Amino acid sequence: MNHLTATAWRFCGARLARLMLCLGLAMPTLIWGQEFYDAAPIRYRDSTPANCISRLQTELDRGTRRLTYHPEHGYLPAVLRALQVPLESQTLVFSKTSLQVRYINVQSPRALYFTDDVYVGYCRSGEVMEISAVDPQLGTVFYTLDQVQNDSPRFERRIDNCVMCHSTSSTGNVPGHLVRSLYIDADGQPMVSAGGRTVDHTMPLEQRWGGWYVTGKHGTQKHLGNLVIRTRDVPQPLDNSHGHNVTDLSDRLRVDRYLTPHSDLVALMVLEHQTFVHNRLTKANFTARQILAERAAFERLKEPLTPDQTADHARRLRQAADELLDALLWVDEAPLNAKLSGTSGYEQRFAALGPRDRQGRSLRDFDLARRVFRYPCSYVVYSAAFDGLPAELRDTLWQRLWAILTESETPPKYAHLSVADRRAIREILRDTKPELPEYWRREP
Ligand code: HEC
Repeated sequence: MNHLTATAWRFCGARLARLMLCLGLAMPTLIWGQEFYDAAPIRYRDSTPANCISRLQTELDRGTRRLTYHPEHGYLPAVLRALQVPLESQTLVFSKTSLQVRYINVQSPRALYFTDDVYVGYCRSGEVMEISAVDPQLGTVFYTLDQVQNDSPRFERRIDNCVMCHSTSSTGNVPGHLVRSLYIDADGQPMVSAGGRTVDHTMPLEQRWGGWYVTGKHGTQKHLGNLVIRTRDVPQPLDNSHGHNVTDLSDRLRVDRYLTPHSDLVALMVLEHQTFVHNRLTKANFTARQILAERAAFERLKEPLTPDQTADHARRLRQAADELLDALLWVDEAPLNAKLSGTSGYEQRFAALGPRDRQGRSLRDFDLARRVFRYPCSYVVYSAAFDGLPAELRDTLWQRLWAILTESETPPKYAHLSVADRRAIREILRDTKPELPEYWRREP
């Protein structure tokens, strides 16, 4: 049994159950058993992943790439460089809510870094680096990289010791990403009785960032970031003014021990959006492929589907598409009422990625005063994970999106998309997304 497996086993049993309770995570239906995605057609466990980590590992195996070991941070700087993960994306989470709890505390938070297709977790003195990669066919694939210097560092694929937390009702019961907001005591432990929630774009700022450091400005808007509860119960009313509009963390922890001194507010907003969309994308992908496989099985048997089965398939496909669209279009986004800004430069770095339309507009342009993005249609539509959705689902999504963006009467949940927003999103996509169906090229 290697080091990490031993850690994970120590974790199991009562301690795991207690921790999951603390996190408010429902216990997965089967911890070590088979989930629906382990069976055909997904075969999560048995399929060969194809993502940025598996590609990087191939380069390491071929000797076309090396990872240099940093005396203090191990392989972290080299891995971030190899994956082109910006240091500006760093966020710091001090709650003992993840795998390597014994290395996490208020003075020694866990650092997270991310791009459109990978998330990297790092604990100071931690045994492993934790990685969740966006995989177009398998949704989220988990890896660890040993933080001991080695001639041939290896990303090891991990399943059981990650999905026990990363595949629950919080992720839509598929292997996915987590961002939580909890009340944390001086030991870094979540306060069970005070509650906590998984964060998505509908959560008001006031409830966000419990357990996270946050650097940035946000006017008079309140939040739970930078807050350590030092009393037995959460004080009511709660005054977190000391944690608001913090731009320097150096009186709270040794920031020089991290790659940057920031836990950028804008990076956090993007992280929360992106993890939510990725989970919905995985759910939609798995659902659509399951339906297609059921249909194909009937065809092989030369059995017609009953009208009920046909209707059930249509309903499930439609629901998966709608849930994904709601995430992509920021339905019910919690409103902002003062300008947000970060400290690391993440905002500029992210927006510079484009792509831009012929008027210079991009789905990555921020608003940050009323809502997060200027044009509320997620840049995740440019990702390989989106393009990897089954064609039938993608067609449905483009049709639904076209209808939402062109019809004069749309359901109230899309009311946040003004006529000008809808036109702008249509025009930006037309200039920047070559895979659009032909009818998108016509004016409505
Ligand atoms: C005890 C529960 C638990 C286990 C086990 C766990 N994680 Fe997590 N993980 C979390 C929580 C909760 C978060 C949200 C941030 C936080 O609270 O630290 C998270 C966040 C992450 C993130 C940041 C982005 C994302 O995907 O949410 C990565 C990367 C990650 N975990 C990797 C892993 C890997 C790899 C494993 C297995 C080797 C693993 N985790 C096992 C609870 C867990």
